Amino acid sequence: MPDRSKLLIVDDLPENLRALNAVIRDDERVVYQAASGEEALALLLEHDFALAILDVQMPGMDGFELAELMRGTEKTRHIPIVFVSAAGKELNYAFKGYEAGAVDFLYKPLDTDMVKSKVNVFVALHRQRQETQRQVEALEQARREQEATLRALNEAQEDLRRALRMRDEFMSMVAHELRTPLNTLFLETQMRKMQIERGQQGVFPPEVWKKMVARDDRQIQSMIRLIDDMLDVSRIRSGKLSIRLGWTELGELLRRVVGDLSRQADDAGCRISLEVAGAAGGWWDEFRIEQVIVNLLTNALRYGAGKPVAVAMEADQREARITVRDHGDGVSAELAERIFEPFERGVDKHMPQGLGLGLYISRQLAEAHQGTLTVAGAPDGGAVFTLALPRLPAPV
Ligand SMILES: Nc1ncnc2c1ncn2[C@@H]1O[C@H](COP(=O)(O)OP(=O)(O)OP(=O)(O)O)[C@@H](O)[C@H]1O
Ligand SMILES: [Mg+2]
Repeated sequence: MPDRSKLLIVDDLPENLRALNAVIRDDERVVYQAASGEEALALLLEHDFALAILDVQMPGMDGFELAELMRGTEKTRHIPIVFVSAAGKELNYAFKGYEAGAVDFLYKPLDTDMVKSKVNVFVALHRQRQETQRQVEALEQARREQEATLRALNEAQEDLRRALRMRDEFMSMVAHELRTPLNTLFLETQMRKMQIERGQQGVFPPEVWKKMVARDDRQIQSMIRLIDDMLDVSRIRSGKLSIRLGWTELGELLRRVVGDLSRQADDAGCRISLEVAGAAGGWWDEFRIEQVIVNLLTNALRYGAGKPVAVAMEADQREARITVRDHGDGVSAELAERIFEPFERGVDKHMPQGLGLGLYISRQLAEAHQGTLTVAGAPDGGAVFTLALPRLPAPV
């Protein structure tokens, strides 16, 4: 149900106002009355009228003067006006600035039917205008919504495309990463099968056997790590990555990890030094912290150009900080944040190493400890990764 139409009647004589009101009043209208031009102006500024019926002859501001003022004001310019005047008078008044149809005349004595029909026409016009306006607004609103939907759709499509591209790249990366060690293992087993068939088990001395088995072991370990990484990513994505706090001696942990990686360091022709300032025991997830350190050290060996790698730890009341510093090409400012994204690899994406998951997982693990993992450039070149771990309260 549309709002009730507002009508304004202006006349200096109360009995005229009463009479006019009685003629034009009905349930779907509100009639406002003003006894002077000034009073009318105040009402005009406050309300949105469908029509103003002005007595021409009034003391003070007369009907025409009021109409002039209405034309000069944006808010009232478009209100249709009906002048009421004594028949035969003021008809030669040259009224300027009126749109055709926006003004009309009624003559005293008022003919009730005439008044009613004129008012009805103007009210109907006003309603129509309001309705059109509403439709225009609704249309505009619909257009805006459509545009927003289209934008969202485009974005979703782009996301989907990106996701598909990522999935394809990911599958080919995983395939490649698994294929290489599996190939080697396959060749080894083929060779051994042949030797067994030919009764040549004793052809290699025990040291050579040991080495071969150790190599197999490394290949298998790296495949397990890869699969574990992928499992971690899906845990992170589904919000299921959790840490289990236990009493952890960070110094000992570091010594052990550096020891475990010494072989890999030798292979990379690189020395890892370790500097631990004091003991730092605290509640952390030892297994997960080890994972982070291994990731950082593996990276330092991979990307550190065979130059020395320095691991250091310092701790205070609040937190423990572990830094891993290498002397490779370092990480550019532009890459510094991106390398913590999943599947984000450095400049040379075609280097057949890694999926670009290590730092992503490591940062998530640091954050699961309410800590941080950041990278900076070392003053003498190379990269410095800092893992800051706040001391957490004992689990209950
Ligand atoms: N110490 C470093 N020096 C220079 N660049 C580094 C260093 N560590 C990481 N990066 C860059 O950051 C990228 C992401 O590292 P991240 O450990 O996440 O993945 P990755 O080593 O490529 O593969 P993954 O760790 O999954 O086996 C690397 O590809 C490399 O370009
Ligand atoms: Mg890595």
